[in-house]
Amino acid sequence: MNLALQGKKALVTGGTRGVGRGIVLALARAGVDVVTCYQQQSDYVGSLERELKEIGGDHLVLQADVTRPDEVAALVARAGEAYGRLDLVVNNAGAISHIPYAELPLDEFQRVFSTNVTAAHLVIQRTLPLLDAGSSVVSIGSKAVDAGIPLRSHYTATKAALVGLSRSLAKEFGGQGIRFNVVALGVVETENLHKLPEDQQKLMIERYSAKTALGRLGTPDEVAGAVLWLASDLSRYVTGATISVDGGIS
Ligand SMILES: NC(=O)c1ccc[n+]([C@@H]2O[C@H](COP(=O)([O-])OP(=O)(O)OC[C@H]3O[C@@H](n4cnc5c(N)ncnc54)[C@H](OP(=O)(O)O)[C@@H]3O)[C@@H](O)[C@H]2O)c1
Repeated sequence: MNLALQGKKALVTGGTRGVGRGIVLALARAGVDVVTCYQQQSDYVGSLERELKEIGGDHLVLQADVTRPDEVAALVARAGEAYGRLDLVVNNAGAISHIPYAELPLDEFQRVFSTNVTAAHLVIQRTLPLLDAGSSVVSIGSKAVDAGIPLRSHYTATKAALVGLSRSLAKEFGGQGIRFNVVALGVVETENLHKLPEDQQKLMIERYSAKTALGRLGTPDEVAGAVLWLASDLSRYVTGATISVDGGIS
């Protein structure tokens, strides 16, 4: 399907692995030029650069820790120099951990908040001068906000915060034609799952697939489908919304 995204400019945080990588590659295939970032050097960086080169377009894969204001400033400056504007910003980089609430250390609570919420705030605020009427900001949320999950109270709190941030900014910037939405994910199959021992992998896939209406986990490319739609003119009247991409999980 032609979503008329050719030539659009995007910034996606955390695009070297998992969901973010799927979003970056799908955007590039749709003709969008993409700046993305990662935190730590890994083989994923080079392999993403190679895949993007094969697809073609004007892309940048940069090291930038989005929890650090100076690194966000440098990242956005590079995007500004390269493109002069941004049609799409995707707050995808995220952190999670599984810790009983009674034992949750403050620094871990703050690390997860810093990556999932403060970083989104830093990126949105810094990119504002590059956004204009028609620009779309998407934050990757989680269905865990509705369900609640033991041992992940800090994580679910961050994803709930993204909904509040996005809904308020939708109202504050709606008059300028800038849209803000959240894409709330169910369970998506990424490299993290594939790193688990085979028996644990199988258990996870079976357990979470059984909770969905479609009977399977999602893929990064299926998340990208919703992001591409939110980047396109087809969604021009959609803002302040939380779009579930979760296979009908409950
Ligand atoms: N996977 C799921 O089932 C699922 C479900 C619900 C919601 N989500 C949300 O979807 C998003 C992506 O999740 P994922 O599972 O794809 O994660 P992932 O596989 O762990 O990948 C995270 C990506 O973000 C980057 N990143 C992490 N912290 C960063 C930082 N401080 N600065 C810059 N880059 C950073 C990582 O880069 P490095 O390689 O350098 O670490 C990596 O590219 C997250 O917001 C997550 O909460 C995922």
